[in-house]
Amino acid sequence: MFPRNFWYVAAWDWEVRRQELMRRTICNQPIVFWRDSEGTPAALEDRCCHRHMPLSEGRLIGNSVECPYHGLQYDASGACVLIPSQVNIPPQACVRSFPVVERNHWIWIWMGDPALADPNLIEDFHWMDDPNWRAKGEKLDLEGNYLLLVENLLDLTHLQFVHRTTLGTEAISGSPIATEHDGDRVRVTRWIMNSPPPPFFQRAGGFKPDQNIDRWQIIDYSAPAFVRLDVGGAIAGTGARDGDRSQGFSMRNLNAITPETETTTHYFWAQARDFALDDPTVTELVFRQVHTAFMEDLHIIREQQKNISLYGSSLPPQIDFRQDAGAVQARRIVDGILARERSAGAKAAE
Ligand code: FES
Ligand SMILES: [Fe+2]
Repeated sequence: MFPRNFWYVAAWDWEVRRQELMRRTICNQPIVFWRDSEGTPAALEDRCCHRHMPLSEGRLIGNSVECPYHGLQYDASGACVLIPSQVNIPPQACVRSFPVVERNHWIWIWMGDPALADPNLIEDFHWMDDPNWRAKGEKLDLEGNYLLLVENLLDLTHLQFVHRTTLGTEAISGSPIATEHDGDRVRVTRWIMNSPPPPFFQRAGGFKPDQNIDRWQIIDYSAPAFVRLDVGGAIAGTGARDGDRSQGFSMRNLNAITPETETTTHYFWAQARDFALDDPTVTELVFRQVHTAFMEDLHIIREQQKNISLYGSSLPPQIDFRQDAGAVQARRIVDGILARERSAGAKAAE
């Protein structure tokens, strides 16, 4: 149902704490997270092998998790290390453990074959803690399938209609997009030339309402669910499109979209900027503006998902337009990955 052999973002670093067990479902799999005595994050299947009790309801004893029902204890590898009622521990007394890595303020989890869990495959989100950038973000709970959000971020035509008070201007949908495709990656580029700045750019970038700008939206998608946007604007005609952004400002909108179930999603996002680094009021302004816009997206996606779920198997096919080139590519990539993983699984089972 979901691509497995990928690093997904499971949590913000501050969500996973030393003395607490945290349950989170990822790709339909309940998982319990905690930090060991060194502060290293760990993740186990959140189901005791004895009678299926969630381990997250238990407690930590040293570096072991104790099941709250009959007191079995597990180490971070998922092996049972104590059965209170007997000395002998059978080898099948274990639960699945998941590789986890802490990077760029996020806790990453590998949901597939642990032998393939190479940390070098973790997507680049260095803007989160790069000293030349300042970032702030959050986790939102999305009541919709993760691909609805991928699609939303790959087609910014909606800014004009959904985000009128922050990001939208009339000039967006009329500006052409270019779509490039390379392996499991897609790039959608749109330049909105010589047009008025949106309300957010006036507030954060200091552009006057009547001062036209050249605005860019360069959207990078990597499978299965990472979208990084290079967005910004510069005074019209000062050469931003040819590489000189000195008369404007730029931001990165960073999105890690982790499936929880078929119809719910953990949405991790942050907005990074390379200007006014030491001004916390700008950090707050930028965060608030993007948060406001994303709450509008969450509403749209919740309503879409309601319809999709209601129609179920009688849902008519959706219709794609020119604006959907990026989203169509992304869905094709995910379908290809699912087919690849299915056939690899079938071969392994032979
Ligand atoms: S259910 Fe966990 S010890 Fe019995
Ligand atoms: Fe949006």
